[in-house]
Amino acid sequence: MYVCLCRGITDTQIKQAVNEGKASCMKSLSKALGIAGDCGRCGRVAKELLEQSILPDVKFTSAA
Ligand code: FES
Repeated sequence: MYVCLCRGITDTQIKQAVNEGKASCMKSLSKALGIAGDCGRCGRVAKELLEQSILPDVKFTSAA
């Protein structure tokens, strides 16, 4: 799925950048792929995908 229409960047490219260690935050993701570098509308979705890609297996449970 296309996330950034301005730069033609897909969710797969974002996940790949994270897996290859090229992106660990929005700043590094933008530097690696150029995402959110034009209109910026893709920023929110890109950040969600970034967070999901960094912590794919984290499950939140009660500490009690
Ligand atoms: S949609 Fe990503 S910068 Fe415009």
